[in-house]
Amino acid sequence: MIYKQYDYGPAAGSDGAGAMQARWDGHWSGRHDWGASDHTREALWPTIADVVGRPGALLEAGCGTGKWIYYFNRLGHRAVGIDYAPSALRVATSADPSLCVVRGDCRAMPFADDSFHYLFASGTVEHDLAGPDAALGEFLRVLKPGGWLMSSVPCLNVERRMMYGWLVARDWLKRREWLRRLARKRDPYVFYQYVFSPNAYRRVLERCGFQVVGLRPYGEQCDRTPIDFLRPLLRRRLRFYCPHMVMGIARKPVRHPEEIAPEVARKRAVRWGARRQDRTSAVHGSSSSSEMAAARVTV
Ligand SMILES: C[S@@+](CC[C@H](N)C(=O)[O-])C[C@H]1O[C@@H](n2cnc3c(N)ncnc32)[C@H](O)[C@@H]1O
Repeated sequence: MIYKQYDYGPAAGSDGAGAMQARWDGHWSGRHDWGASDHTREALWPTIADVVGRPGALLEAGCGTGKWIYYFNRLGHRAVGIDYAPSALRVATSADPSLCVVRGDCRAMPFADDSFHYLFASGTVEHDLAGPDAALGEFLRVLKPGGWLMSSVPCLNVERRMMYGWLVARDWLKRREWLRRLARKRDPYVFYQYVFSPNAYRRVLERCGFQVVGLRPYGEQCDRTPIDFLRPLLRRRLRFYCPHMVMGIARKPVRHPEEIAPEVARKRAVRWGARRQDRTSAVHGSSSSSEMAAARVTV
């Protein structure tokens, strides 16, 4: 089950991808620091600690102001962040100039295939009106075979499902022009994000080629409901009773050697070509490519 959530936003009548990017840029502009403190106090920490064991090459897709990249570096990873909101990256680099962040779109990333051991994306893929497949397809491409994905999305949890009728009715009401004027909202009511039930998100990850290892709830939704007083009891019984987010933990499959033979041959041919190019650029005095191909887009 997937729910399409709308909100009042500064997207002047449009709810396409460009509007979303402008919205995030507005969201981060004016901020001056990332609020990083102790990573072990973050709601996500226990999940991350279980997955990112050995230090490796790690990409955060939709890194925002870079708080998590900072944490990952401190844990010994070689972390890189990508985000399409320039204001977020400005905050990241002014808070810590040593952070490696790249401006770009998660749906067409400037990194070579099989570059990263880990890919972390919290609250990123749900903001594309066309669905999360394009970004997840890119995540699969840049991960090494056997690499780990941690990608979270808002959760259509048990409580939200019980309130589903109300959510749909509220959306219908908010789309009325007279209500927007009555509520003195200047912005239109436009697409904001998809909210996924845990099973629906599992299916999306599998459809995009991942082997799902697990789904973990985290955070608590802040919407108020008439049955809030039952939360402590129901949360103990049902893992997905009222978490705000669901984290999908998955791996890029390691394929059988025979299956990948033609691909290996193709990659070797490409690498051989790249080496020749490196030699040529060395002659001309420029640096050669790094493990994760140099970003074509810079901050
Ligand atoms: C909810 S914020 C999460 C920020 C950060 N990961 C964190 O946990 O603090 C989502 C971020 O994803 C970025 N984002 C969403 N869709 C994106 C896309 N297609 N390409 C690049 N960045 C994207 C937004 O600009 C925003 O900074």
